[in-house]
Amino acid sequence: MQGTAIAQPNIALIKYWGKRDVERNLPAVGSISITLRELHTRMSVTFDEVLAADTLTVNDAPDDRMLPRLSACLDRVAGKDRPRARILSSCNFPIAAGLASSASSFAALTVAVADAAGQSLSTAELASLAGQASGSAARSLLGGFVELRNTDDDIEVSSLCAADEWPLMVVVAITEAGPKPVGSTEAMEISRKTSPFFSSWVEQQEQDLDTARAAIAERDFQTLAAIAEHNCLKMHSVMWASRPPMVYWNAATMRCLQTVRRLQGQGVGVFFTIDAGPQIKAVCLPEFAAQVEAALRVTPGVTDIMTTGLGEGARLEHME
Ligand code: PMV
Repeated sequence: MQGTAIAQPNIALIKYWGKRDVERNLPAVGSISITLRELHTRMSVTFDEVLAADTLTVNDAPDDRMLPRLSACLDRVAGKDRPRARILSSCNFPIAAGLASSASSFAALTVAVADAAGQSLSTAELASLAGQASGSAARSLLGGFVELRNTDDDIEVSSLCAADEWPLMVVVAITEAGPKPVGSTEAMEISRKTSPFFSSWVEQQEQDLDTARAAIAERDFQTLAAIAEHNCLKMHSVMWASRPPMVYWNAATMRCLQTVRRLQGQGVGVFFTIDAGPQIKAVCLPEFAAQVEAALRVTPGVTDIMTTGLGEGARLEHME
């Protein structure tokens, strides 16, 4: 009746933006991500027949904000007739600020609740369930480089390369730690319905996925850098051209981007990516991590820095 799991967020190099089925939360496009090592979310689920309703504690304080989405995830995995549950969540990084906290939360939750309900699910089943809760969550089930593909009526995830087979580093520059102004589900729908660039975004995605997949197979950093930056800027162009426009960047985001450009000019193996938030994620070859971190740390407007390697997928944590 109890399950605890831990999962790390992932950062998409080839992005997911837009849904082909809102009801089932199926993405319009496939995506490729890297799972991080140092940041994590732990989720513990305890079913209790005595409880009248699910409860949620986040970082040791009662917090109902995410409860409806978490309860819906529990219903999907364990059935609507399940006992109510006590959910404990802890996270060592800012929540809902474009750092993919929903990915690690729902990957950990799906694995934890399946265990609490005594179910032994395959990766395919877990991916389908986690993906219905948050599109990017399915990618956090696996470690290293992960591809999420659309199948006829669902999604599937696969590992492209383990974390230790190409140990890139990621420097996350925080420029604003508050929650984002528009959640990704709503923002994606605004883009799909109003952005004149949305259809070309979807059309070109297979090509970007092919390029990135080949670059990862060959450990070709420059090709991966070029396609990841292109894909990221294309996604933000879709958002900027939406009505209302969605601009997640602030002045410091732009300054960080210029810092990365300057480092590239000096021969540093680094590229940027930005999600639905103002943070910059600088992906680099391990030998440049200290230099990238130092340059971003002194970029005006950066309030915090986190440097991490690539990590493993979601897993159960057994209580002693
Ligand atoms: O999984 P969601 O609904 O939080 O959407 C994630 C969207 C991006 O982070 C912007 C891109 C991605 O592929 O992770």
